[in-house]
Amino acid sequence: MATSTLLVRFTLDGEAYLNSLPEEKREEVLKRLKGPALVGRAELEDIVREIEEERKIQEVRKELIVEVRRSAFHPTAKDYEADIYVDRKKEVTGKSRSKGEVKDFIEYFRNRFRRLKSFFPSVGGLVDIGELPSFAGEEVRVVGMVMDVDKGTNARLTLEDLTGRVRVYLDTSSNPALEEKLQEVVPDDVIMVEGRMARRSLIAKDISFPDIPPVQFPLVERDLAVAYISDVHVGSTYFMEKLFEKFIRWLQGKEGRAETAGKVKYVVVAGDLVDGIGIYPGQEKELVVRDIEKQYKVFQEWMELIPDYIEVIIAPGNHDAVRRGEPSPALAKEFLSLDAHLVGNPSRVTIEGVKHLIYHGTSMDSLIAAIPWASYDRPERVMVEYLKKRHLSPIYGTNPIIPEAVDYLIVDEPPNVMHMGHVHKNGYANYKGVFIINSGTFQDQTPYQLKQGHVPTPGEVPVLELREKRLKRITFHS
Ligand SMILES: [Fe+2]
Repeated sequence: MATSTLLVRFTLDGEAYLNSLPEEKREEVLKRLKGPALVGRAELEDIVREIEEERKIQEVRKELIVEVRRSAFHPTAKDYEADIYVDRKKEVTGKSRSKGEVKDFIEYFRNRFRRLKSFFPSVGGLVDIGELPSFAGEEVRVVGMVMDVDKGTNARLTLEDLTGRVRVYLDTSSNPALEEKLQEVVPDDVIMVEGRMARRSLIAKDISFPDIPPVQFPLVERDLAVAYISDVHVGSTYFMEKLFEKFIRWLQGKEGRAETAGKVKYVVVAGDLVDGIGIYPGQEKELVVRDIEKQYKVFQEWMELIPDYIEVIIAPGNHDAVRRGEPSPALAKEFLSLDAHLVGNPSRVTIEGVKHLIYHGTSMDSLIAAIPWASYDRPERVMVEYLKKRHLSPIYGTNPIIPEAVDYLIVDEPPNVMHMGHVHKNGYANYKGVFIINSGTFQDQTPYQLKQGHVPTPGEVPVLELREKRLKRITFHS
């Protein structure tokens, strides 16, 4: 019979399973048991899986370390000191004071409204909604927050500001493009409506979003590059470790073309480093590692294989061990004791003078549901909406928001690069000079995604060569 120095008891199937293991493995499993408890076969199988996973990584590690020593790879990135600035004023880490009370939400939405309104030109005069009745029959411009929107045959919306609310109908005869614009409008957007005030409602001739102005990419003298990844999902049965290993080998100059790899001075990870625990019902059946700390331990072991001269920037996602409400703080050092920049979600990081806006992208689910043409297949089109709306989680509701005194989700200064993940699908665009990058995943299609008909693109890493302003797609899948 199997024994343990701890006061652990086994169920009959647990004991039979334990006795069927080779002696060495049995010893290792017994060492990892935390008693006192009644342990069954399922728990023991978890521990065995974990041991095997760790062993695999150790083997890869040994192999890669030996190869690096022998390597003739001379990366140019190694010759330069890093030039990186994390703007801690613009992220919530260490600054969350919200109690989530009603008055916090009221203050939050007032603050959001005022700041988004300030992005509209006030030239020509804006009218407060409360003053509209005295402008009957006149042309007016108002800025308001969308209370509700009907994109059906009625094509109308309700707009609200701090002084009142008004129903808005579209005058599509003077502007046929208006109906299309309405498709992009979602609840809680702050928009400007130009039109004529009828007796009690406003007849819109145009709708506009706060939008960003065109952005100039800075001049970068050093020939360095940034690699963007996200949604690694370590700990998941579907984590594609062979692809991830190839990515690490590529960074080490041992896979594919070394020229671009040698320029990589920065790796940005936009969340979902691990699969997490209890993220959705039945997730435990899809986990190889069922302990959150161990998931991070495995992720850390992978990260430690990245060459030392590369700076790693890590933001959390909705699967990570941070609060689910956004904005979320950086991951605690107790989970990751890496020599890396742990930043919040969202966060602003300037790399070689290039301004980055890093956000996991969880709110994309609600935007895709609210905009008829939006889809998981084209994340870059949805990402453009964040810049137009100048907010990273415009719709209040499905994506929880913590009402902080400062709205860290507002896109105040337009970035040069906007990096997101979450949808597991690579996507790229350039909007008004901003590089829009969705860095895909290293997780294979999950049963849930299969049911939804969602096809991920694992193993494709976008790399931005900063001096050349050139975005390359490095693919590790066959
Ligand atoms: Fe993910």
